Amino acid sequence: MADTTLMDKLVSLCKRRGFVFQSSEIYGGLGSVWDYGPLGVELKKNVKDRWWRAMVHARDDIEGLDAAILMHPRVWEASGHVAGFTDPLVDCRQCKNRFRGDDPRIKGTPGQADAQCPVCGSRGTLTEPRLFNLMFKTFMGPVEEQAAVVYLRPETAQGIYVNYLNVLQSSRQKIPFGIAQIGKAFRNEITPGNFIFRTREFEQMEMQFFVKPGTDAEWFERWREWRMQWHHDLGLSPARLRWHQHGPDELAHYARAAFDVQYEFPFGWQEIEGIHNRGDFDLGRHQEYSGKKLDYFEQAANERFLPYIVETSAGADRVTLTLLVDAYREEEVEGDTRVVLGFHPAVAPIKAGVFPLVKKDGMPEMATALYHDLKRRFPSFYDDSGAIGRRYRRMDEAGTPFGVTVDGETASARSVTVRHRDSMQQKRVSVDQVADYVAERVNSG
Ligand code: GAP
Repeated sequence: MADTTLMDKLVSLCKRRGFVFQSSEIYGGLGSVWDYGPLGVELKKNVKDRWWRAMVHARDDIEGLDAAILMHPRVWEASGHVAGFTDPLVDCRQCKNRFRGDDPRIKGTPGQADAQCPVCGSRGTLTEPRLFNLMFKTFMGPVEEQAAVVYLRPETAQGIYVNYLNVLQSSRQKIPFGIAQIGKAFRNEITPGNFIFRTREFEQMEMQFFVKPGTDAEWFERWREWRMQWHHDLGLSPARLRWHQHGPDELAHYARAAFDVQYEFPFGWQEIEGIHNRGDFDLGRHQEYSGKKLDYFEQAANERFLPYIVETSAGADRVTLTLLVDAYREEEVEGDTRVVLGFHPAVAPIKAGVFPLVKKDGMPEMATALYHDLKRRFPSFYDDSGAIGRRYRRMDEAGTPFGVTVDGETASARSVTVRHRDSMQQKRVSVDQVADYVAERVNSG
C-alpha cells in the first residue's frame, strides 16, 4: 500500500467510524484544527489516562497539576517564547502560498531569482524569509490594545515552572520530585499537516522532574528508559520506534541535551515525544523575571540550589495518531478485504460489541440485557442491524477486540460466543462469566 494511500484511508476511516472530524466542516473546515468524535475521544482519553496512571498514580514522587491556559504575559518573555519562538516564513508573490523558509521542497534561496515556489513552480517569486512568532495572541478585558495582550500557551510546561514552589510546599515533596500536567497548547504553525500530527490546537502530556544539579544526567537516562517503555506498553510496534538525539544545531534554546522518541509514520520517522535536560534555564529565568526566589534548601546537606529540570513532553494527539497508524491493517478474508484497527484491548475505544444473531426467538432481549450488564463494566456497543458478518466488520474497523453474540444456544446453555478480533476465532463462554472474560483481557496491559 502506498504510504499516502494509507494516510488517506486512515483519514476516511476516522471520519466514517467517528474518530476524528475536520473542525467546522460545514463551513469548509478550519486549517489544521480537528474534532474528536465518539470513538476518537475515548481513544485519546485512554492514552491520557494511561499516561496519568503511569506518571502520577503509580509513583510517589510526582504530583499532578492543571494550570490555566492564559498566563501573565511576562511568563512568555521569561521563557524565551516572545523573542525566540519563531519560524522563518516565506511567501510566494505569485500564488500567495506560505512556506517555512527551510521547507525542503523549495529549490534555490528564497528572496533570490533562482528560488522556485514548490506549489506554482514560479521562479523568483519567493520573498526573503522573515521571522514569524508561533504564539497565538488574544486580548484580556474589553480593550483590544497592546497593553492587554495575552497569549494562548504554546506549551504546558510554563504552568508547571511558575507553580513549582506552590506544589513543593503544599505536597511536602522533596527534591527529586516531579509535576505532571495534561492540557491544551496552541501554535500558529506555518505548515501544519499530516492529519492530527501537526495541528494548531493540540494536547500535551508534560512532566517536569526537579533534581539536584549534578544528578540530572542520571535522571535524564532513567526517564529516557521509562518513557520508551511506556510507548512499548501501549502496544506500538517496537521496530517502528527509535531514538533521535538532537545535534548542537537542533537543540532548543533551553536544552542541554535532548532525545526524541520517533515513530515511523507513512510520511517518515517523526517525533512523538521529547525528553529534555533543561538545566536551570527555566527556574533561573522565572526567578530573574519575577524577582521571586525559587531556590531549594536541602536540609540533609545544608545546601541551597536552583533545581535542574528533566522534562518529558509527549503529544496526546500525536500518540493517538501513532496508535491509529500502528493499528491499521487490511487483510484478505474469503475474497473480501477486511479492515482492522488492531488496538491493544486496553486502549481500544469500545471493548465489546454485543449482537443478537437474529432478531427473533428472544435473542434481542437477552443481548440487550447482557449489553447493559457489560456497559456497566467497560464501553460496549449494541448492534442488531444487518448480517452478523457485517456487524463484525464494523467492529473490526472500530478496533473493538471482542464480539459477543447471543445465538440459538444461549437460552438453553446460558452461553454466548466471544469472537476475537485478530484471530476471528470464536469461543463459547458462559453468560455469567463473559464480563470477567473481557475485563481480564482488557486490563492485562
Ligand atoms: N515543553 C517542551 C515542548 O513543548 P516540543 O518538542 O515543542 O517540546 C513536545 O513539543 C511534544 O508536543 C511533541 O513531541 C509533539 O508530540 C507535541 N507537539 C508539538 N507541536 C505540536 C503540534 N503542532 N501538533 C501536535 N502535537 C504537537
